[in-house]
Amino acid sequence: MMLNDVPLIRTEIPGPRARGLLERQSRLLVYTLPSWVPVVWEKAEGAVVTDVDGNRYIDFSSGVSVMNTGHSHPVFVERLQAQVAKLSHCYFSPTEVQVEAMEALASVLPPTLRRVVLTNTGAEGVEMAVKVARAFTGRNDIITFMGSFHGRSSLDAAMTGIWHVRKGGGPLPSGHIHAPYAYCYRCSLGLERECCNLQCLRYLDDLMITFARGDTAAAVVEPYLGVAGSIVPPPEFLQGLRAFCDRHNLLLVFDEVQASFGRTGKMFAFEHYGFLPDIVILGKGIAGGVPTSAVAMREDISDALRAVGWPSTFAANPLSCAGVTASVEVLVKEGLPEKAARTGSRIMERLNAMTERYPLIGDARGIGLSIGVEFVRDRISKEPAREESRAIFEHLTRSGLITLPPGGLYNNVIRITPPLMISEELADRGMDLFEDAIRQVSER
Ligand SMILES: Cc1ncc(COP(=O)(O)O)c(C=O)c1O
Repeated sequence: MMLNDVPLIRTEIPGPRARGLLERQSRLLVYTLPSWVPVVWEKAEGAVVTDVDGNRYIDFSSGVSVMNTGHSHPVFVERLQAQVAKLSHCYFSPTEVQVEAMEALASVLPPTLRRVVLTNTGAEGVEMAVKVARAFTGRNDIITFMGSFHGRSSLDAAMTGIWHVRKGGGPLPSGHIHAPYAYCYRCSLGLERECCNLQCLRYLDDLMITFARGDTAAAVVEPYLGVAGSIVPPPEFLQGLRAFCDRHNLLLVFDEVQASFGRTGKMFAFEHYGFLPDIVILGKGIAGGVPTSAVAMREDISDALRAVGWPSTFAANPLSCAGVTASVEVLVKEGLPEKAARTGSRIMERLNAMTERYPLIGDARGIGLSIGVEFVRDRISKEPAREESRAIFEHLTRSGLITLPPGGLYNNVIRITPPLMISEELADRGMDLFEDAIRQVSER
């Protein structure tokens, strides 16, 4: 594909073929994400998506942080085609491809976290991590955080700190205690980072002194809040959380479903902080788009899981395993975590300069290639610029840049999460479109 021709928009969006398909789809499918701009994807390669009318887009979404190695990577195409021709399902029977996947994960995980269980989705991985934490400690309560997202099952929704994920499913399981996250742009405790001394960590100690003592098993934390709008805490928040867990004899569980496999600029997000969690939940980029997740844990903790069990129909499926091995191989061989760090800094530099020019940008933040831009109507009151964010998003899609729809706690954050292999040239072109959309909406 000639990259000069990207983006290339030659019909209105959706185009004629896309409209026909959307009409057929609307008769049957229960569409669960209504705010999307309807680009009907036909194929994708690297960081470029082509729709059914032949329009070409730059992908700043990675299909929600999944396609870290890029779409249709030749290593995946070859391995998955070969695997599907050989063996695609065998329930729990051991296979060579499974051993290879475990060895691939072990080659990048730290020695104390090499006991791994493969699961199907991030949501399932979180459920399992909680079950094993409870079984290991013999305690029930789980500390989680306001603004966190852990999945859509009842248990995950109960852990999640976003109201609309929790709403509507009836009573949620009990045993989850929510604490403030270090969302320093909008501090729950009304403090400024320069002088707050991380009171949010002190809040945790108060929790333990007042009512969480005695039956708390673990703290489950996202290394950055993804769905809440790429909210990156100061490193001291996560380091302090590790110390807090040690002081109170709790397990520390990192929900890295979104953050791992190179996206933050390291293979795993915890590598930024100089400590290890006790359990890590992995997903999204782990198998290059084959639905797969995993939970990695300490050996002694894994003994507790053996006792409670977790067999599941598709877990450790040969296609998942081939995807895991290919994913680790490509990330390491192509140095994609390091590339994510470099491209992420380049995009952040550009965003910092744009922040000087456009008052609509309230906060631009990120780690590696997980970047969030929070739009506000006024920098002092920080009133969320919801309609403006939506207008920017629609402008972006129609000019050939795919991002997720505005999200975050106030629906005013656009996230930038391209495949890690995106070239500087294409990332720059995407940022030109980003700036153009902000300029046009600012001038309205
Ligand atoms: C941090 C985190 N945990 C869990 C999940 C749930 O993963 P899945 O959608 O694969 O169930 C997500 C999904 O976005 C996530 O971001």
